Amino acid sequence: MTETLTLRRPDDWHLHLRDGAMLAAVLPESARHFARAIVMPNLVPPVTTAAQAAAYRRRILDALPEGMAFEPLMTLYLTEDTDPEDVAAAAREGLVRAVKLYPAGATTNSASGVRDFSRIRPVLERMAETGLPLCVHGEVTDEEVDIFDREAVFLARVLDPLRRATPGLRVVLEHVTTAEGVDYVRDGGKDIAATITAHHLVINRNHILAGGIRPHYYCLPVAKRETHRAALLEAATSGHPRFFLGTDSAPHTDAAKLAPCGCAGCFTAPNALPILAEVFERAGALDRLEAFVSLNGPAFYRLPPNEETITLRRGTPAAGPARIDTAEGPVTVFDPGFPLHWSVTP
Ligand code: NCD
Ligand code: ZN
Repeated sequence: MTETLTLRRPDDWHLHLRDGAMLAAVLPESARHFARAIVMPNLVPPVTTAAQAAAYRRRILDALPEGMAFEPLMTLYLTEDTDPEDVAAAAREGLVRAVKLYPAGATTNSASGVRDFSRIRPVLERMAETGLPLCVHGEVTDEEVDIFDREAVFLARVLDPLRRATPGLRVVLEHVTTAEGVDYVRDGGKDIAATITAHHLVINRNHILAGGIRPHYYCLPVAKRETHRAALLEAATSGHPRFFLGTDSAPHTDAAKLAPCGCAGCFTAPNALPILAEVFERAGALDRLEAFVSLNGPAFYRLPPNEETITLRRGTPAAGPARIDTAEGPVTVFDPGFPLHWSVTP
């Protein structure tokens, strides 16, 4: 049995770092394991301009503890008023690595998202010319569509028409949760990839709802039935180059999660890698973990993979922290519900 596993240092291609006290508390949890992350722009107010992205990047670097290395890869929050030239200039400088599309109202802090897709056409055309990826929250927000169908409906109703209308647009279908999404990406050619979270490889909708409601498992897109989890697992462990890790680690305080209308988001930054090692090992795919966490993402984003390495060690299961303390209150760490044999060596 493998006892240690050395990988190129992983990156996280979808991460919520927040701001202020929350940023200070959660950033080390990612920086400990990941070299870089695509940082989501859904702050309040959202990061919509290059100048705001530069300022947010600075706040992240200022919050990084002495001696830790981490490169935030910044994104812009696409609105109906986004200026194509501002985006193109920020991409040329290397400041911005992707633009994020939230359908208005789809998830946490998405009120400024897109309602009328015809209004973002000039930006998308500019992005298709420059190769800058569009990260997509792939859910429709139509109240008439069942929440468990919102991703599949989005593919047919929004994403596919949008891609056909903008040839060459490079798209990342973020936090894919369905077999339909996996198939769409696998059959979609070189310009589309998907991120997969650690938690969607572990839970299905029963974990959220059967035997009591578990708010810490509630995130968006919501976990679907078991057949979908199996499809995600197959895609992640297959070695297919257009599937890679985006943890979507999304911290909310326990007070915000455990409320009558609780926030969506799972906080997985501290244990995403040990969970993935466990999941890949059970699937007999430990040899493909490096592709999923360290190689496929940089290849799609046209960045070099990291040169440094990390080592995971297999041992007696050790419980990680159940929660972390922040100045805003405790934040519960995602509990996979099984013992974790792998830990990242310091
Ligand atoms: C995210 C958040 O809290 O910002 N929540 C989530 O459930 N994933 C937003 C998002 O990525 O949808
Ligand atoms: Zn997210």
